[in-house]
Amino acid sequence: MTALAIPGLDHAPTTHERLLSWVHEVAELTSPDEVVWCDGTQQEWDRLTGRLVDAGTFVPLPRRPNSFWCASDPDDVARVEERTFICSRDEADAGATNNWRDPAEMKSVMTDLYRGSMRGRTMYVIPFCMGPLDADKPMFGVEITDSEYVVVSMHIMTRVGRRVIDRMGSDADFVPCLHSVGAPLDEGVEDVPWPCNETKYITHFPEEKTIWSFGSGYGGNALLGKKCYSLRIASSLAREEGWLAEHMLILKLTSPTDKVHYVAAAFPSACGKTNLAMLEPTIPGWRVETLGDDIAWMRFGKDGRLYAVNPENGFFGVAPGTNWKTNPNAMRTLERGNSIFTNVARTADGDVWWEGMEGSPENLTSWKRQDWTPADGEAGEPAAHPNSRYCTPMNQCPVLAPEWDDPQGVPISAILFGGRRATTVPLVAQARDWQHGVFLGATLSSEKTAAATGAVGQVRRDPMAMLPFIGYNAGDYFQHWVDLGKQADAGALPSIFYVNWFRRGEDGRFLWPGFGENSRVLKWIVERLDGDATAAETAVGLVPGADALDLSGLDVRQADVEAALAVDAEEWRAELPLIEEWFDTIGPALPSTMRDELAALRQRLG
Ligand code: GDP
Ligand code: PGA
Ligand code: MN
Ligand code: MN
Repeated sequence: MTALAIPGLDHAPTTHERLLSWVHEVAELTSPDEVVWCDGTQQEWDRLTGRLVDAGTFVPLPRRPNSFWCASDPDDVARVEERTFICSRDEADAGATNNWRDPAEMKSVMTDLYRGSMRGRTMYVIPFCMGPLDADKPMFGVEITDSEYVVVSMHIMTRVGRRVIDRMGSDADFVPCLHSVGAPLDEGVEDVPWPCNETKYITHFPEEKTIWSFGSGYGGNALLGKKCYSLRIASSLAREEGWLAEHMLILKLTSPTDKVHYVAAAFPSACGKTNLAMLEPTIPGWRVETLGDDIAWMRFGKDGRLYAVNPENGFFGVAPGTNWKTNPNAMRTLERGNSIFTNVARTADGDVWWEGMEGSPENLTSWKRQDWTPADGEAGEPAAHPNSRYCTPMNQCPVLAPEWDDPQGVPISAILFGGRRATTVPLVAQARDWQHGVFLGATLSSEKTAAATGAVGQVRRDPMAMLPFIGYNAGDYFQHWVDLGKQADAGALPSIFYVNWFRRGEDGRFLWPGFGENSRVLKWIVERLDGDATAAETAVGLVPGADALDLSGLDVRQADVEAALAVDAEEWRAELPLIEEWFDTIGPALPSTMRDELAALRQRLG
């Protein structure tokens, strides 16, 4: 190892050779002023949030204990899918749905970008663990970053610090995650509240299980334990090892007779995962508890059932639309403080506000740091960015299931796939069997949301809600799903459902009230598993009649519920060429069973 004279570099709390040499190599490349080995303590949080306040990045929120408001650069507000790359050695292994670059070429381009990129800044080394630290094989990562915002966010979203590095010992495997905002502070350069770079790369090397991210400070691009590790790298690992890394919430549903079912659900970003995970049922006697709101790692247990673990430690939730009616448990979680709010609006008396929240505050500071009044809202300028986020610790959630961090995970009874579709897709349908369920997942479609940059509202295929997160060829991914179902005992497999909370009437309003009322759909789902609910055979699966759903006490037009549940052959026939086209995009890796399922659907539609 070269003797580099960078303060802090040699204060390593570890003898882990591979880690030490990587940290030295990165320090040499990026030339920070100082290196800090993060310990994950409250003192570290206090020191760094203090530094962020001094820098003008954070504004303390006196109405909320230990909580901060933050506004990003207006051009750094969401995941950048077109700048996200899977750099497998062979292009075919990335597949048609991913951006691919040759790994050596990408490394050379990014090495040039990283050279000196931390000048004038502190380089932080964050040892972290995805999933419980007391797992048989803890899933370690180490993120190097020059962003204090990333460090404090990682404190919330992952298990970090001294206990992690101690458990890593001198030779544990880990995923190296390199991040720089790409804004060196050379002599005379004044820092800004949200440093970032116009050039952005979110890059994954699946064979090396390595992540390189440059230019963005936004959560999904910069908190590398989340999408980059726990979905893209983990999905590629899961394929090799025979498990699943999925974009799914995990919830526990308890019936009035105390029967427990665990449910996992995959919806694209900003399509209802966090809300469903924390749902407050409107039907008496039913209870929902939360285990996770974004990511599930699932492995088959010795009993043949599929067990799910949430690798995360916090919620990174969509703020707009969150209120005491739609998601009271998120509101309660946030009231306990210790949270970071990014790109929401700030009130004059030190609280936060966003579109859809109760109250109509007069004088706000918008996410663009400008004065904002309701007149600006009427003029089409929202106070909070549509993808504004709260970042808050899981353990503050009042309905957290006690088993949420059990390394064994929880046995999943049902898997839900869902998207945001104004037409065509019924409120709920049950798949005939596993393979049909994989087909429903593989053909899932949804309107694009503000969670990624680009046009909002356009319908696209988003297989298993994983389009931006599959770390390898999507066709191989479908095959992996099919294969896992074949290996498993059919009786122990979760049953698969397809849901759509977002169907609209001709006048544009939602046909189904959603949120807490989705408990009625969950009830039907688990009653299907227990053989207590009826369903009609349709071309797209088993669908309840309006009379099969518990609608007691619900103030909704019967005709709307029927319209939400309708399977319209005409609409579905129009879907066939779109699915065909989608399958053609996947190319030769598409499993033939998916074509078989499409043919069967076509036949059922007549
Ligand atoms: P996630 O990104 O998948 O976790 O989605 P969220 O749960 O954060 O929800 C994203 C947006 O969809 C928010 O604005 C929610 O208020 C809204 N939303 C969530 N569930 C429902 C629902 O059942 N019906 C309707 N109409 N909107 C919903
Ligand atoms: P979400 O998570 O799924 O809760 O929106 C962030 C993202 O997917 O970008
Ligand atoms: Mn997500
Ligand atoms: Mn969410």
